[in-house]
Amino acid sequence: MKIIRSIKEMQQLAGSWKRRGYRVGFVPTMGALHEGHLSLIRQARKNNKKVIVSIFVNPTQFGPKEDFKKYPRNLSEDARLCRKEGVDVVFCPSAVEMYPSNYKTYVEIEDLSAVLCGEFRPGHFRGVATVVTKLFNIVQPDIAYLGQKDAQQAIIIKRMARDLNMPLRIEIVPTRRDRDGLALSSRNRYLTAAERKSAAVLNRALNLGHKLVADGNRNSRKIITKLKALIRKSPRTRIQYLEIVDPQDLRPVARIKGQALIALAVYLGKTRLIDNIIVRG
Ligand code: PAJ
Repeated sequence: MKIIRSIKEMQQLAGSWKRRGYRVGFVPTMGALHEGHLSLIRQARKNNKKVIVSIFVNPTQFGPKEDFKKYPRNLSEDARLCRKEGVDVVFCPSAVEMYPSNYKTYVEIEDLSAVLCGEFRPGHFRGVATVVTKLFNIVQPDIAYLGQKDAQQAIIIKRMARDLNMPLRIEIVPTRRDRDGLALSSRNRYLTAAERKSAAVLNRALNLGHKLVADGNRNSRKIITKLKALIRKSPRTRIQYLEIVDPQDLRPVARIKGQALIALAVYLGKTRLIDNIIVRG
């Protein structure tokens, strides 16, 4: 397994693979790899000749008061995990090479970036879309793998790839969870023991949503009220949003018919967690 830091070297190697007709699978990450990331990597390994994992804590997707500085970084452990999964290249560029001082270009996806997480993290999806575009141009993948865990991110990147005619396919991989249902996340390590225990309510609430819809409930407002009440009963929780939206355009749905996305962001103490589930009315 190669560890590549230089953009030019990565682009040249990816270009040579392209010319040879190798299928390249790509998993963009910010490192601190866990089983969720590894399930994306395994999916990529299964279906491609070459697998590239990027590890880059992207400064442009963090707000000024967010956790960019303290975001967990452990390249040697991440590299060990990637090697074990049969990854061909770990690409870990530096922030100054990705964003030199005269950097000027950003990618914006209208509307989809303004709702849900976007409402509370202005500029976040602009940073995500920009870095993912840069990574796609460097790595030139045939298939990029993204997690359902970050549903809005996956929807935005899919739309971006379609709108900008990017020559690749996006595959969405199901959310990996701990035994109590908590979605795996690099940020779970910020939780205290009490917060970690309480955090299981997020998945319980989503499962309740699934059950209510399966039982014939269609009124989003009523479902949302029940789910919020359940979450509020769990200690140290503060709901930022809990919404039921159309999984294509992310607009709120009043009555559920067909597929709907129940998405939430909840603080456990100081740590903000997100999760979601797709339901069908
Ligand atoms: P990061 O949070 O490191 O996540 C990398 C990928 O792993 C994302 O596609 C995310 O959805 C997926 N992932 C995270 N937790 C998961 C879980 N429990 N189950 C399945 N997949 C999971 O998302 C980012 O990095 C960044 O925004 C990035 C796309 C790399 C751009 O900087």
